[in-house]
Amino acid sequence: MKGVVLAGGKGTRLYPLTYATNKHLLPVYNMPMVFYSINTLVKAGIKEILIVTGGPHAGHFIRVLKNGNELGIDNLSYAYQENEDGICGALKLAEDFSGGKSLCVILGDNCTDADIGREVAKFRAGAKIFLKEVPDPKRFGVPRFDKKGHIVEIVEKPKKPASKYAVTGLYFYDNTVFDKIRKLKPSKRGELEVTDLNNLYIKEGRLDWAELSGFWRDAGTFDTLFEVNKYWAEKGGLS
Ligand code: G1P
Repeated sequence: MKGVVLAGGKGTRLYPLTYATNKHLLPVYNMPMVFYSINTLVKAGIKEILIVTGGPHAGHFIRVLKNGNELGIDNLSYAYQENEDGICGALKLAEDFSGGKSLCVILGDNCTDADIGREVAKFRAGAKIFLKEVPDPKRFGVPRFDKKGHIVEIVEKPKKPASKYAVTGLYFYDNTVFDKIRKLKPSKRGELEVTDLNNLYIKEGRLDWAELSGFWRDAGTFDTLFEVNKYWAEKGGLS
């Protein structure tokens, strides 16, 4: 499995912190934010990684990550997302990089200490998503389950959430993902939504899920950025 870290966008929810750099390079205690998502992949044995970035400060990533060797990456590639077309707009840039292999995709603002090594080793085909119980599911993609515990639908930022789970920004996809992305239409916010992609796998009966163990937050708002900093500071930081 290869890894893709999505680290584009303008980070407008964090203005003025992101006037001068990319959101994913802001500090989380002792490391830049993106080091945490990269570490989740590297710890799981994924050492071929593509960073998809975008926006006005994309060049900063090279100075911070260099060739990725300090982070334990064997082979680091970069792609630039020219359009603001969302998570799947970024993911489609990974087609050549994937070389026909499955992908572990993580959003660069998702900070977790979960160990996904066993899940990575087990994954064969279809898609797998990771859920976490949250107090505020309305901010996320939210799954609806049938009586057997299968996900029947995911709704992006629902007014009335069907469960207390958030779909985290950690996904496994087989190589049919690129044909599926080509079928997506932009949402009302003008983006190719990862929730629409996951719903295509659900329709095929090929989406599996697991609950993410340990700490997880996306650090995309002032409050969650603060919480993530506090958590990692108390833990002694990322080494
Ligand atoms: C994105 C996804 C959403 C997911 C969240 C996790 O939301 O669209 O389904 O729950 O990441 O961080 P966004 O950050 O674009 O609001």
